[in-house]
Amino acid sequence: MTARPIVIDCDPGQDDAVALLLAMASPGELAIRGVTCVAGNVPLELTAANARRLVELAGRTDIPVYAGCPAPMLRPLVTAEYVHGKTGLDGCDLPPPSMALAEGHAVDFIVETCLAAGPEGMTLCPLGPLTNIAQAIIKDPRILPNIREIVLMGGAAMITGNTTPSAEFNIYVDPHAAHVVFECGRPVVMIPLDVTHKAITTPARLDAIRAIGTRVSDSVAGMLDFYDRFDMDRYGMAGGPLHDPCVIAYLLNPGLFAGRRARVRIETRSELTMGRTVVDWWGITGDAPNALVLNEIDADGFYAMLTERLARL
Ligand code: BDR
Ligand code: CA
Repeated sequence: MTARPIVIDCDPGQDDAVALLLAMASPGELAIRGVTCVAGNVPLELTAANARRLVELAGRTDIPVYAGCPAPMLRPLVTAEYVHGKTGLDGCDLPPPSMALAEGHAVDFIVETCLAAGPEGMTLCPLGPLTNIAQAIIKDPRILPNIREIVLMGGAAMITGNTTPSAEFNIYVDPHAAHVVFECGRPVVMIPLDVTHKAITTPARLDAIRAIGTRVSDSVAGMLDFYDRFDMDRYGMAGGPLHDPCVIAYLLNPGLFAGRRARVRIETRSELTMGRTVVDWWGITGDAPNALVLNEIDADGFYAMLTERLARL
């Protein structure tokens, strides 16, 4: 099997960090052409530094890291230091990056990489607000036929939001970009909170990661220790949800997930419900589906795979 070419667009963020590590631990299946950074959990300068800290941690400095958009398309940036800490990666003690950012803008890199994709196309993996991806589509729509799939973490289908009662963070931060992506006509896989709130880092799962006993697993355990506290406090969960790694896990083993194709629209007008992902789960409108919306995960299978892969780094 040849490795599937992907671009990971992210805003690390502890859960983005685990997603990056999972992908970097899986070179047999995933060929990471580049990591592109966007403003989200913390400002762009920090997400771009954090992505490089992680690439260095995994010993994969062959992967270029690009900085992208510093703010959403229309709305002011909203960040989430209250979840991720001041640095975005609080809980680990990774040093500042030594490697430089790749030259050029993330949006141009996405455009060029998609245009240059071979017959297998390019899979885009957005783990943050969709600003860079939407800007790439707007800048050069010739990339569309070459986008094989967009597998994204974002939205909430049948449950409430985590940033407002209506909206999930990634979609709330840049709903206009999300609109562009969901309407782009290419296959979209949406991994919403419905799934990720079932992917909980329980103490036993965290212990299994810590027990690997490597620098990578120590860093992950430290980060998750810090990150888990927010969702445990707010939702009374037994640990934090690992949102973004679900995207990579889906690419590695889609059999861990279930869902259905549905029409998804993004609320961009009402302040009350801004960024809501309106999912026509029951086909009430009769409109053609534009996304595969996942709602189930085999959480034990997911954590078993994650732990086994992290041990490879
Ligand atoms: C999403 O928002 C961010 O805080 C996480 O990194 C994840 O991408 C979850 O709502
Ligand atoms: Ca993220």
